[in-house]
Amino acid sequence: MLGTVKAEVRTYKNFVNGEWVAGSSGETFPVYDPSTEEVIAQVPSSNAADVDRAVKAARAAFDSGPWGQTNAADRGRILFKLAEKIRQNTAMLAELESRNSGKPIVEAEFDIADVATCFEYYGGLANKVMGHVNPVPANALSFTLREPVGVAGQIIPWNYPLLMAAWKLAPALAAGCTCVLKPAEQTPLTALEFANWFAEVGLPPGVVNIVNGFGETCGAALVAHPGVDKIAFTGSAAVGKLIVKSAADTLKRVTLELGGKSPNIFFEGADWEAAVDGALFGVFINQGEVCSAGSRILVEKKIYSKFVEAMTEKAKRIHLGAPLERDTKMGPLVSKEQYDRVSSYLEIGKKEAKVAIGGGRPKQFGKGYYVEPTIFYDVDNNARISREEIFGPVASVIPFDDEAGAIRIANDTPYGLAAAVWTRDIYKAFRVVKAVRAGIVWVNHMQPTYVEAPWGGYKQSGFGRELGPWGLEEYLETKQVFVNLDETPIAWY
Ligand code: NAI
Ligand code: MG
Repeated sequence: MLGTVKAEVRTYKNFVNGEWVAGSSGETFPVYDPSTEEVIAQVPSSNAADVDRAVKAARAAFDSGPWGQTNAADRGRILFKLAEKIRQNTAMLAELESRNSGKPIVEAEFDIADVATCFEYYGGLANKVMGHVNPVPANALSFTLREPVGVAGQIIPWNYPLLMAAWKLAPALAAGCTCVLKPAEQTPLTALEFANWFAEVGLPPGVVNIVNGFGETCGAALVAHPGVDKIAFTGSAAVGKLIVKSAADTLKRVTLELGGKSPNIFFEGADWEAAVDGALFGVFINQGEVCSAGSRILVEKKIYSKFVEAMTEKAKRIHLGAPLERDTKMGPLVSKEQYDRVSSYLEIGKKEAKVAIGGGRPKQFGKGYYVEPTIFYDVDNNARISREEIFGPVASVIPFDDEAGAIRIANDTPYGLAAAVWTRDIYKAFRVVKAVRAGIVWVNHMQPTYVEAPWGGYKQSGFGRELGPWGLEEYLETKQVFVNLDETPIAWY
């Protein structure tokens, strides 16, 4: 499979109104392979004029194009065809994703399969959207129509590049929206390859547009554009706050999936091997570049020392390697910027807590943004490494006394995306499930995510839900239709 994507540097364009177009300024920026630090592509650095062009195409496709005349079953069929294209090209897409993001190829293959599943799910859901008849006390019929919200601006991160595009595009298209997608500047390549199939599957021009660029220029212009009806964003809480402020000027609908500092809670008596594995997997999968990373590992004092020791022993066996090698469990971080950010937290952590393992750059790599899986222990929940999202392979292990203490620490965070609890005591498990303020709580597992079930945050982890029928709901408006059945004139005069 290696070699199906040529390593030569290629300049991509924006995809607007069904065509590949260069950015208006002519400026491009490099896209890297984070394992070699080499440039693998160039993409346009789009500005407000480029965004305007894409929004106008999406606007026209929504307001007057053939997309508005399609029925839901037809839209579903198009989504199934997109899924089929993804499945047929899994090897190429997974390799490109792995090469560009640094994630292990085996994980990239899972991601690409999830992309196809997401399009299949929303393909199937497209024609199951139904309105209601409302029991108004009048000689009338009141019912609701579910209509697409309009043009969706979609801004996505680099940790699951094509999967995040799928989470945004699939429900929007099922609903009948048109889209302007801005991929993360670090990882735009798989979304751009994907656009090559749009015409073939029958997506009319302008229905999905892709503009490349940086957040402060391209992303911000999309959020501010009056032709956009809704912004869907996944990324940092800091940018989420900027987006809400900017979107307020045009009162756009906004959904946000922001980060977290998710607690992974371990009680005495939990299945030992599964728990130790779950602690490591929960925080180190995808190099820790996961919004729901179990980065606060809360361990009951009775098992605390033994647990830290067992985690440390097993962490030594995590194989760091080149992303395209099949036995690699952790690749490099996505970028120099992320490597520097995570490295700075490693230095902060060394002052705030004790290091069980890791804490720096693995010696065996001459190049690439690799960071050792790092476990800090005896960490205070008020430490910066307990409060701030690091988005790298860095665990903070925090001891607790009892169930009430675990719940208090778990909830003592500005975030509320995810949590997990490990115990064989079902009473305790469900009490914790109920007490923790988070959008998902796993019991005796951490991280599995399925398109059929909702995903999103409490508190500063954002608002709105993606996936399942909830994800489609965010792209729909509700129109009430009131039909008077009474022919007598209104007795008003
Ligand atoms: P970011 O939030 O700056 O970038 C995410 C997306 O937003 C990118 O497409 C970016 O171009 C865009 N963006 C940035 N500034 C924008 C603006 N002013 N207006 C509109 N769009 C804008 O995230 P970044 O800088 O890549 O990573 C910083 C931290 O964010 C990470 O260390 C991590 O803590 C967090 N993060 C969380 C993610 C999640 O899944 N919740 C994903 C990526 C990052
Ligand atoms: Mg940023």
